[in-house]
Amino acid sequence: MMEDISWLSARDIQRHLTRRREEIHSYRAEEAPPAPLPWKVDVLEVTDSTNDEVWRRATPAETARVLFAERQTAGRGRRGDAWHSPVGENLLLSALIRPELEPRYWPRISQAAGLAVRQVVDDALEQTGSQLKWPNDVYFDGRKIAGILVERRESPDGMANAAAIIGIGLNVNAQKESFPQDLAFPATSLRLESGRNWDRNEVAARLLFSLERYLGRLDRFSELREEILGCSYLLNREVTAETPRGSLRGRVTGLAENGELLLETAPGAETIMLYSADRIRVIEE
Ligand code: BTN
Repeated sequence: MMEDISWLSARDIQRHLTRRREEIHSYRAEEAPPAPLPWKVDVLEVTDSTNDEVWRRATPAETARVLFAERQTAGRGRRGDAWHSPVGENLLLSALIRPELEPRYWPRISQAAGLAVRQVVDDALEQTGSQLKWPNDVYFDGRKIAGILVERRESPDGMANAAAIIGIGLNVNAQKESFPQDLAFPATSLRLESGRNWDRNEVAARLLFSLERYLGRLDRFSELREEILGCSYLLNREVTAETPRGSLRGRVTGLAENGELLLETAPGAETIMLYSADRIRVIEE
């Protein structure tokens, strides 16, 4: 119902973020990110896709800009699927950063973003139960709670101004009936898992804080990889993957140096490294 909605506000998000940073510095300084990111926060009632709009708004000098929208008219997921979310219930955002990383390391960004979102889900639900489904879907108890779409954009003058755009759809206050009936995967939200309504401004601030923590560790990816493997939905499971090389079947054995998925196609056979895949399905044993 409309009166239940607390609308997003850039000022409230900034306020919660400042408070979160102060809390962590006072009580759990060891968890503080190496450097806070200078987020420029905007909130829009409607846009086509936050991934596109944040790029249109960014100036080359900006290193951390984030755009939230209450509604998207052309929200998209990976594989070109549409991303649906009812107005005022969830978080739809895109964070633009300009990492000082060689292009071959950029896949780490989407892995770090997955960990950042997962941390917010676990903290909110006071659990350690959420999982990452490669490349970066966040699952809770076998249901999808967040999706992430990372895109690289370059200005006409090339890599010097390249940006990573981290698009995140996090289901916060969605109810069962909020999800389309024909979803390809079961979905859930913080509200469905906790039985309570969440202040989206606070969750948004937690997400920005978590992003700065994990994005600040891209140069120590082996640590992040251990963390990802510890919460992997696919590790040691038999899967089918639709890939640019065709359909593959195998057991997931781990992650490579930059977060690529390792797939053993038969016991003792060649291990294949997947850089991308359209659809990954677990084969239930
Ligand atoms: C997926 O699971 O396929 C990724 C979904 C990503 C959706 C988010 S919503 C905010 C941002 N803007 C978009 O158009 N997509 C991402």
